Amino acid sequence: MEKLKKTIFVTRPYLPLLEEFKRGLEEVWANQWLTNNGPVLQKFQKELSRYLGVPETNLALFNNGTLALELGYYAMGLAGGDVITTPFTFVATSHALKRIGANPIFADVDPETMCLSPEAAEKMITSRTKAIVPVHVYGNVCDVEGFERLGEKYGVKIIYDAAHAFGVFSRVEHVERVEKKSIGCCGDMSMFSFHPTKLFHSCEGGLLVFKEAKVQEKLFELRNFAIHSETECVDVGSNAKMNELQALMGLECLKKIDELLEYRQKIYGAYAEGFAGCDEVKLIPHSQNKAYVPVLFKDFETRERVYAVLKEKCNVFTRRYFYPLLTDFAPYVYAKGACPVAENLASRVLTLPTYYGLPLEDVKAIAENVKEIIT
Ligand SMILES: Cc1ncc(COP(=O)(O)O)c(C=O)c1O
Repeated sequence: MEKLKKTIFVTRPYLPLLEEFKRGLEEVWANQWLTNNGPVLQKFQKELSRYLGVPETNLALFNNGTLALELGYYAMGLAGGDVITTPFTFVATSHALKRIGANPIFADVDPETMCLSPEAAEKMITSRTKAIVPVHVYGNVCDVEGFERLGEKYGVKIIYDAAHAFGVFSRVEHVERVEKKSIGCCGDMSMFSFHPTKLFHSCEGGLLVFKEAKVQEKLFELRNFAIHSETECVDVGSNAKMNELQALMGLECLKKIDELLEYRQKIYGAYAEGFAGCDEVKLIPHSQNKAYVPVLFKDFETRERVYAVLKEKCNVFTRRYFYPLLTDFAPYVYAKGACPVAENLASRVLTLPTYYGLPLEDVKAIAENVKEIIT
């Protein structure tokens, strides 16, 4: 077994060139404006609008993805209602529901994409259901047509947790051209996380993309304590504003986005080559942006052994993402056992290191070590 010379973490944030970041800082210093819808944030919003193909009127930036979700759910009127969602996700998807007094109801996932199954979700719909929250987990795209049908049939909102899906686009074919459209355009609303563990980041940050432009004013108010004017506070808002330094980091990273995405493809390709012909490691092929490299092992014991040996003997840190399942955690244990497919996946999945600059020979060595551990 090959012990890698340096420690390899499951991810590492991309950092822009310090010189370029410093130039941006000079602008912030000159502006003397640090937060509250500053000029750098406005520039970032414009650039995101261009990159995603979404009008600026249908975007809102936040200081992190969790608060973006919380305020997004609230603005869509989910407080007090039942919301059907997946347990195969990060806790924030459901925490944000609980925090506004909505009730997460868990339905099972599709075994291939690992995303919420529309068929399973439909079985859970009742008169109390206000929305469905599927997650484009690992950047794998949900069955968006299936959820659109449910939204229309039952009059429930469809809100995607797209935390992992920045850089995922669908093709829209017009007679004269093909247009790229962000996956965030699906449903009533989508949330992208800009946490540094994501392939694109703004130190911390979150973005909501929504169908109805009228939601923007509400969200802008909610992220700023629901202050409407100098003399009016119209609701119970929060402090969820993105500041100028976050926006600057986002702008600088956005300049590099094509390269960041391209490098992930190379890493994925190197893993695919490394595991070629090895039936005991199933690489999940579905995500367009290759935000993560999840692999499935034949059982829990094998996954646990690979995780531990990589860490202790090879200097390689992987992540059992998502294990334990949400329904194993105290706030959601009422639904334990309700989603057997998700439980099975959580017991066998491991995400392998991937980040911009991870040497491809290290990827090769990780794949070799994994194969050696399981044989
Ligand atoms: C699926 C999912 N939803 C929500 C979040 C929360 O985003 P943030 O960390 O930006 O608050 C994360 C990740 O961190 C996530 O992975």
